[in-house]
Amino acid sequence: MKIMPLQIAGLTIENPFILAPLAGYTDLPFRLLCREYGAGVVFSEMISCHGLLYEQQKTWDMTQSTPQERPIAMQLFGSEPDMMGKAAARLSQLPIDCIDINMGCPVKKVTKKGAGAALMKSPLLAAKIIRQVCANTTKPVTVKFRSGWTHQSINAPEFAQMAEEEGASAVTIHARTWSDGFSGTVDWQVIAQSKARVSIPVIGNGDINSYDQGLAMMKQTGCDGVMIGRGCLGRPWVFDRDNPADTAQLRLNALKRHLELIDQFCPPQWALGKIRNHAGKYFKSMRHGAEIRNRIYQAETFADLRQLVDNLLDGLLAEKPEEQGEQQADKY
Ligand SMILES: Cc1cc2nc3c(=O)[nH]c(=O)nc-3n(C[C@H](O)[C@H](O)[C@H](O)COP(=O)(O)O)c2cc1C
Repeated sequence: MKIMPLQIAGLTIENPFILAPLAGYTDLPFRLLCREYGAGVVFSEMISCHGLLYEQQKTWDMTQSTPQERPIAMQLFGSEPDMMGKAAARLSQLPIDCIDINMGCPVKKVTKKGAGAALMKSPLLAAKIIRQVCANTTKPVTVKFRSGWTHQSINAPEFAQMAEEEGASAVTIHARTWSDGFSGTVDWQVIAQSKARVSIPVIGNGDINSYDQGLAMMKQTGCDGVMIGRGCLGRPWVFDRDNPADTAQLRLNALKRHLELIDQFCPPQWALGKIRNHAGKYFKSMRHGAEIRNRIYQAETFADLRQLVDNLLDGLLAEKPEEQGEQQADKY
């Protein structure tokens, strides 16, 4: 299958494989790492419009960026059209490429305020939010949502059409309902039906764990790009169209680079906290993985953690080639 660049308004994305917004994970170092492994565009964690407008430092910290990571989309969430418009105007002053609106988050803290996936139950309010955001920025605006609220109220195709009419330049569909949370099967048909309804690009999302699976989703649904979330945690090379073999060395090299990026871009007091969520993911279903994870969690300083990873990598490289082969054979 020929892979075409993804065009979101004036923004050309060479590789249509995209890093999903993941609260607690898609900070600047991880986004840079995914870009280095080939992600065509990266999404920030969801950012509260209230937090931005009330000048909360923690919220503004989430907007940390650097030119090397571009193209970058920053994601806003909220349920009040005026606030969302004002927050979009503030975000627009940053050197970013796109503003995404979260209309898919199922978490109670968010939906009980009418934001995230709850907006799929209020398409008129959702329309006002998209209109206000579009009116307050010259950047392309995209909207990320689900199949619908429940299986009895699947409305992604109409929702996609509404988003296009209100000015969105692309939509992402996580093809599960709010009631599914993060389990249940992803319904590729909803992506195909939504694609048939709009002329803006449609990005498919949900349970894609390899480049080939992403290509299959594009082929079967006609979607223009694929967004990967959990499938890239501890496996940022999933964006690489050359499909590198998953070896211990690949994992350790990726983690080593991740640590370098954290060191380069985060204040030292944040460094250990920034990697804790991620580190264990690099050793999932790997020989000695549990033992390595324990040692990582026990590291008391960031320097200790880097040393540990360097030692593991040195140990691996010092292994005889036949031992490495053995390690790959029973891997994973
Ligand atoms: C830990 C976690 C955090 C997430 N945070 C966000 C978020 O901030 N904004 C958003 O739109 N979706 C968020 N999502 C949903 C993902 O972007 C994605 O739609 C979902 O995980 C399905 O894709 P996947 O199967 O590739 O992970 C989150 C998901 C997880 C597991």
